[in-house]
Amino acid sequence: MTTDISLTRDPAHVRHGSSIGQPLTRRDGVLKVTGSARYAADNHPPKMLHAVMAVSSIARGRVASLDVAAAKSHPGIVEVMTQANRPPLADDPDAKTNPFMFRMESLQNDRVRYANQPIAVVIAETLEAATEGAALLAPRYEVEPARAGLDGNESYIPPAVGIGHPAELRHGDVEGTLATSAHAIDATYETPAQYHNPMEPHAIVAHWDGDTLSIDMPTQGLAMGQARIAGLFGIPPGNIHIRSPFLGGGFGCKGLISGPVTLGILAAKLVGRPVKLVLRREQMYGPVGHRSPSRQRLRMGTASDGALAAIHHHAKIATSSFDDFYEPAANASHSLYASPAIAISHEAVRIDTGTPLFMRAPGEAPGSLALECAIDEMALACGMDPLAFRLKNYAEVEPISGKPFSSKALRECYAQGAERFGWSKRPLAPRQMRDDEGFLVGWGMGTATFPALMFAAEARAVIRRDGSGAMETGAHDMGQGAWTAFAQIAADALALDLEQVDFKAGSSDLPDAGIAGGSAHTATAGTAIHNAGAAVIAKLAELATSDERSPLFGAGNAGVVARDGRLHRRDDESRHEGYGDILARAGLAEIEARGNGAADPAAQSSYAMHAHGAVFAEVKVDPDLGQIRVTRMVGAFAAGRVINPRLVQSQILGGMIWGVSFTLHEQAIVDHRSGRIMNANLAEYHVPVNADVPRMEAIMVDEHDPHVNVLGIKGVGEIGVTGSAGAVANAVWHATGVRVRRFPIRIDDLVMPVSG
Ligand code: MOS
Repeated sequence: MTTDISLTRDPAHVRHGSSIGQPLTRRDGVLKVTGSARYAADNHPPKMLHAVMAVSSIARGRVASLDVAAAKSHPGIVEVMTQANRPPLADDPDAKTNPFMFRMESLQNDRVRYANQPIAVVIAETLEAATEGAALLAPRYEVEPARAGLDGNESYIPPAVGIGHPAELRHGDVEGTLATSAHAIDATYETPAQYHNPMEPHAIVAHWDGDTLSIDMPTQGLAMGQARIAGLFGIPPGNIHIRSPFLGGGFGCKGLISGPVTLGILAAKLVGRPVKLVLRREQMYGPVGHRSPSRQRLRMGTASDGALAAIHHHAKIATSSFDDFYEPAANASHSLYASPAIAISHEAVRIDTGTPLFMRAPGEAPGSLALECAIDEMALACGMDPLAFRLKNYAEVEPISGKPFSSKALRECYAQGAERFGWSKRPLAPRQMRDDEGFLVGWGMGTATFPALMFAAEARAVIRRDGSGAMETGAHDMGQGAWTAFAQIAADALALDLEQVDFKAGSSDLPDAGIAGGSAHTATAGTAIHNAGAAVIAKLAELATSDERSPLFGAGNAGVVARDGRLHRRDDESRHEGYGDILARAGLAEIEARGNGAADPAAQSSYAMHAHGAVFAEVKVDPDLGQIRVTRMVGAFAAGRVINPRLVQSQILGGMIWGVSFTLHEQAIVDHRSGRIMNANLAEYHVPVNADVPRMEAIMVDEHDPHVNVLGIKGVGEIGVTGSAGAVANAVWHATGVRVRRFPIRIDDLVMPVSG
C-alpha cells in the first residue's frame, strides 16, 4: 500500500526563485473544499462491518452485567465484543515501558476507571444496527464513589511533569526575597478541564490479511503508532500499514494510540472482516486525552523600581487514577522573565477521569495565562504600564540556565505589536474608556513564548533521469498545511520547481517523519527533507565531477552548486549540466539518498531556543449585562524562518482564537457527584464561533536564528495561544476594573461588579 494522493496545483502562484517563503495556498485545498479528500472514515473496503462502542455511564466501579444476548438478537448484529471474547493482546495495555506509552482501555477487565470508558463493542452490518445493538446492552454497574475535581483526592508531588521535566525547580532565595520585596502580589488562578474537539473525531478502518494489518486512521504520529500497535498485537512493525493523508484536526489527541483505536483493530480480528469504528462526539470526552484543570498560585515580588526579584509559580493539576500525565503548567515561569529567584512547583491529585494528555500547548497554555495575568497584577502594584513592566523584566538570558535568549526578537515583537495596536494611548487605570454605545472598553496584553523543539525524522530524496525529483517522508498534515510547506522545502532542497517534485507523505510505509506535535514538525521533518535533498545532490555531484565527459569534471563536490535542476561549477557558472544528463550518462534511472532531522546537542547546550511574541487585545463589556466581546487583537511573533507566510499566519491566528476560547469559552463541566461530564458535546462545550472572533492581525517579525536548525525554523503550531489568553483576560480587567481569576470568565463574574 502506498500513499497515492495527487495534490492540486495552483497556477496563480508563480515562483520567484525559491519555493520557501512563497505564500502558497494549501496544495490539498481544492480536494478538501470539494469533498474529494478521503478522510479515514471515508474508506470502505469490501465486506466492511461497522463497530460502535458502548461506553460507561459511571466514573468508577465495575461492569456487573451486559445484555449481550439482547444485542446479538438484533438484526444485522454480527458480534458483540466484551472482555469475555476479545482476542488476546501480546502486550498488556496497562504496561508502561517508555514515557510516551500511556495505559488504555481495551476491554482487558471489568473495571470502570472513568465516565465514557469503552465497555463493549458492537459489530454489525450497518452503523444503525451497531448503534441499536450498543443501546440494547443495558449495562448494570457496581458503582463506587467518584473522585472529581482538584480537591477530589489527597495531593502529592508528581514524579515528573510533561515528559520528564522535574516537578520542582528552585533557583535563588524565593521566600527570603518575597518577604523583603518592595511590591508583591499573591494571586490564585483556576482553569477548567478542556477537551480537544477536532472537527473529525477519532476513526479507524482496520483490515487484517493474515498477520498483515492495514489501517486508515488520522494520526499525528505514524511511526510511533505503528510501533505501539506492533507491540500490542505481537507483529512486526513492517506488517502494519497506516494511511493518514488527511486529519480533520488533532490538537494533541491523535498523537498516541488510544483504547478506541486498539478496539477497532481487535474487532476486525475477532470477526475476520474489515471493521470501521468512529467515535461519537461524546465518546471524545474520556478515552482520548484532555487537558487537566489547574489551580495556579503566583507569588511575585519586585524592588522599588519594578525590577522583578522573585517568582513562585505553583500549579495543582489532576491526573487519572491509573496513569501519570501532569500538565506542566508552572513551567511557563521558568524562562520568560528575568528574576534572580524563581521557584516552580507542581502538586497533583488522582481522580476518576480519563488520563489527561497533550493538548494545544500543554503546560504553556494554562501556565502562561496565569503568568501573564500575574505580571499584569504585578505591574499594577508597581504603578507601571504593563508593557513598560514587561520591557523592564523580560529575560535577556534564560534566568535559570543562563543561556542566551532571542531577546532581540522579543523586543521587536513588543515594539511592532504595540505600535500596530496603538498601545501608547492606553490609560493606566481601568474603566476609563467607553465606546459610542456606552460599552466599557479595555486593552490588555500578554507575552507569547513556546520552546523551539526538535524531535527526530528521516526523509528520502530521489532525482530521476527525466530531471524530476521525489521526496518521501511519513509527515502528517493536521490541517495546518504541512504538506504544502514540506513540498516547498523539498523543492528548494532539490533545487527544482515545486511542480517538478513529487512529494509523498501521510503513510507509515514512508520514512519516519517523527510526530506532528510540540510545534516541531516543520523544524524536524523539514530539516530531514533539507538534508536528504543535500545528500542526493552531493551524490549527483560526485557522479558528475568524477566523470571526465562532464563539464563539471574535476570541480569536486565543494565546487558545485545546484540551481534550477542543474549543477553549476561555482568558479565558472558557464559550465553546468542538467540532473537528467548526469544520470543518463551514468546509465542510472534515478539516484536516491536519505537525510535526518534532529536536534544539535552542541547548539542546544549553548542557547535557549524559543519562539516569541506579544499579543494585544481589545474587549468591550456591556456595563449592564456583563457580556464580553473581543473586538480587536494584534499579535507580533518571531518564530525564525517562515516557510509559507500564508500558512504560518493562519496557524498563529488559529492559536490566538484558542486564546480567546481559553479565556472566555472552553470548559468541561464535571458533575462532582457522579464524575460525569455534563457538556460532553459541541453544543454546550463552548468554543468561539465566527461572531466571537474579532478582527485579528498576526505580524511576523523577521528573525534569523542560525542555531535552532539548518533552516532556522521555529514552531508556530502552539505559540498563538500563549500571550493571547492572558491578553484577553487583562483587557477584561482593564475594561471593568474587575480581576477575574477563574476561567473561563463568565457574565456572572462581571454583571454585579460592573453594573452601574
Ligand atoms: Mo500538540 S499538544 O504537541 O499536538
